[in-house]
Amino acid sequence: MTAKKIALALLLLTGSAQALAETPKDFVAKYTTEAGAGFKPSAARGKSFFTKEFGVSKDMPSCASCHTKDLNSSGKHVITGKVIEPLAPAANPERFTTTKKVEKWLKRNCNEVVGRECTPAEKADFIQFAIEGGKA
Ligand code: HEC
Repeated sequence: MTAKKIALALLLLTGSAQALAETPKDFVAKYTTEAGAGFKPSAARGKSFFTKEFGVSKDMPSCASCHTKDLNSSGKHVITGKVIEPLAPAANPERFTTTKKVEKWLKRNCNEVVGRECTPAEKADFIQFAIEGGKA
């Protein structure tokens, strides 16, 4: 193998290892960095954010409208009635393990409930809340 090919192989290997290694804590760390100097994630703030009624949508005033007040339980989509598996990593180890899924759903749900995208601080607080029990 040429040095170039070896470098490429290493890049692919570490790339996939990183994708596998994503954990809820990695997301908190990433959003904490994005939130800027001096920011510290808070489960308490995440909890108020999660239950806050934003008054943007009549059908889904808060995140809890679909996910219920306990992230360890299954939720239910207010419009389609579809069951939503628990969001707390303790109850559902698949949560907060892929960037694609986390960002897609945060974007959609924040726009619908809050009327804008969530800030990195709100995301870090919310995931911290989910890690630390997720009961509001
Ligand atoms: C209208 C119903 C609804 C509301 C309201 C809602 N969600 Fe969701 N949420 C869903 C659905 C549906 C999914 C995707 C299905 C699944 O993953 O089980 C989802 C998935 C997610 C995920 C994906 C996590 C992962 O890694 O799998 C996150 C994070 C999330 N929601 C956060 C929020 C937050 C924060 C709010 C409030 C700003 C919110 N949701 C409000 C329906 C809702």
